[in-house]
This record gives sequence, structure tokens and C-alpha cells, in this order.
Amino acid sequence: MRQTGGLAAGFGTLALALVGGLMSCATIEPPGRRVYDEHCVMCHGAQGRGDGYFAERLLTLPPDLTRLAQDNGGTFPATRVTLAITGEGRDSHFSGAMPDLADLKLTGRAADRQLAAVVAYLETIQQ
Ligand code: HEC
Repeated sequence: MRQTGGLAAGFGTLALALVGGLMSCATIEPPGRRVYDEHCVMCHGAQGRGDGYFAERLLTLPPDLTRLAQDNGGTFPATRVTLAITGEGRDSHFSGAMPDLADLKLTGRAADRQLAAVVAYLETIQQ
């Protein structure tokens, strides 16, 4: 009997640990996602598909950010994406609808980290 009780208590602890683990997974977001949610989601949308609430006010619609790799022959164009975000290197089609990092008040070393994080995040949402 004693042994069974110990086993049940053991399972209880395990279940609690699992639930705790799942809950912390749900609340801790990758840093790039946080940058995205703060500065990009209004135009590019929650899933990156270009359907943010602000997108309909723009003359140029934001592109589907989940297709960047697909549209680049299967390779995520990290450098192009980085330069597009900073504003340092934008294709001629860019309308100016998208603010650059300085507009977003992201400057200095923290900005470099946030930039790297958001680019890494975009890579994870590729289809
Ligand atoms: C005010 C709306 C708006 C915001 C905010 C915005 N974007 Fe954009 N983004 C656009 C539009 C519009 C385009 C299409 C390019 C153009 O202007 O012609 C675009 C294009 C892009 C591209 C495509 C680059 C390419 O070469 O295909 C990337 C990547 C991108 N945005 C990432 C981001 C990230 C990351 C953020 C947040 C740090 C962000 N955008 C914030 C509107 C926005």
C-alpha cells in the first residue's frame, strides 16, 4: 500500500512538473517574436502574412513574410531582409510605407540585438 501511495505521489509531482513546463513554454516568447509584435505586427499581421490592422491604410500592401525563402529559391535571404529592415538596402519597389529602424527608435547595441532576433524569428516562420 505504502509503495502505491509513493508511486501516486510521484506521478502527481511529474504531472505538476509537466504542466509547469508547458505553461512556461506558452508564456515565454522568443525575443524576435517580441520585437515583431511590438514593431511589425500592425502591418505584417500576426502570422506575417501581410494582414495587420494597419495594412489596409497603406498604398503598398506588406508582402507575405512567410514566403521570403520560397520566393528566393528556397533560401531565406537573411542579408536582404536585414538591410530592408534597417533601411540601408531596399529594393527600388519599396514605397516608403515601411518605417526603418531609426523611425522605430531602435538604435545602438540593443537595436543590433533586436534586429538579429527579429530576422532569426522571420526565418522560423518560413513555409
Ligand atoms: C507601417 C507598416 C509597416 C511596418 C510597421 C513594418 N513594415 Fe515591413 N513592409 C511594409 C511594406 C508596405 C512592405 C513592402 C515594401 C514596400 O514598401 O514597397 C514591407 C516589406 C517588408 C519586408 C520585405 C523585404 C523584401 O525585400 O522582400 C520585410 C522583410 C519586412 N517588411 C520586415 C519588417 C519588420 C521585421 C518590421 C518590424 C521591425 C516591419 N517590416 C515593419 C510595411 C511595414
